[in-house]
Amino acid sequence: MAKMTDRIKELFNEQQAVILATATKDGVPNAVPVGAKKILDDETILISDQYFNKTLQNLKDNDQAAVTFWGDNSEGYQLKGIVTIETSGERFEETAKWIEGIAKMINRPLKSKGAIILNIKEIFSVAPGPNAGAKLA
Ligand SMILES: Cc1cc2nc3c(=O)[nH]c(=O)nc-3n(C[C@H](O)[C@H](O)[C@H](O)COP(=O)(O)O)c2cc1C
Repeated sequence: MAKMTDRIKELFNEQQAVILATATKDGVPNAVPVGAKKILDDETILISDQYFNKTLQNLKDNDQAAVTFWGDNSEGYQLKGIVTIETSGERFEETAKWIEGIAKMINRPLKSKGAIILNIKEIFSVAPGPNAGAKLA
């Protein structure tokens, strides 16, 4: 288990999109931008699946994922952890409503197919410089 600090959560929330990296069971990488993301608690983030294709297959075959994000001054973080996919239950229903609200707001036919829950196990800095790649938690 690794806990995000208030600063890490603030930077995560400030970004319009973050990068979600997954891999096939043979290790072929796949990294995609995601905008429908939120923090559930210090150790958990949620991403809504509207369009995941290779990403979803990878997560079904290999539950390890990394989420990377950074701000204007190159401060950035990588959250590594284990994913569960929820397509029913309270968290999924809330996600579906949240995405429905966004769809109405931007007048586009967005629909959540699932809630991707990342349980954070490790946190790294990705800021350039002498501390690049340092494990923070
Ligand atoms: C800025 C941006 C934000 C995106 N946000 C999401 C998102 O929140 N959820 C989602 O399912 N797809 C989102 N997408 C689409 C995915 O990045 C990607 O197209 C999809 O996962 C299909 O690629 P895959 O086959 O590699 O999974 C977004 C794309 C862009 C460019």
